[in-house]
Amino acid sequence: MATERTFSIIKPDATERNLTGKINAMIEEAGLRIVAQRRIQMTDAQAKRFYDVHAERPFYGELVEFMTSAPVVVQVLEGENAVAKYREVMGATNPAEAAEGTIRKECALSIGENSVHGSDSLENAKLEIGQFFSEADIAG
Ligand code: CMP
Repeated sequence: MATERTFSIIKPDATERNLTGKINAMIEEAGLRIVAQRRIQMTDAQAKRFYDVHAERPFYGELVEFMTSAPVVVQVLEGENAVAKYREVMGATNPAEAAEGTIRKECALSIGENSVHGSDSLENAKLEIGQFFSEADIAG
């Protein structure tokens, strides 16, 4: 299996409840390395662009409003099979369906306030990383 990089966001519901450290510990315990991270206040334009794929969904406005409601932590995670591994560590989008021991089972409040985002493919990981990190940020 190849070493991959994936993109992660620790969302406002988690930063607001001081869960950044707990989530980072769960990420590291799963064998993923945090190779870059930055705490930012996402702008309306950044959130709209990031979630453009969901622009026609009924929850799009609510999603953009939520993602800009408080700081988030954007991250690049590295490891064997990192894209699939992180999705496993996050658990299902809806915390009611998330498996025991996953981040969303332990931390998420609802399908919207679900604590973390992780890329769904290697191709999207590259695009998403590029939206928030420069080559210099993630070199080495
Ligand atoms: P994320 O992995 O960040 O990608 C899209 C997000 O949309 C998803 O996590 C959820 O937080 C959010 N989402 C998906 N379905 C709903 C829904 N029915 N209502 C509100 N938010 C949703």
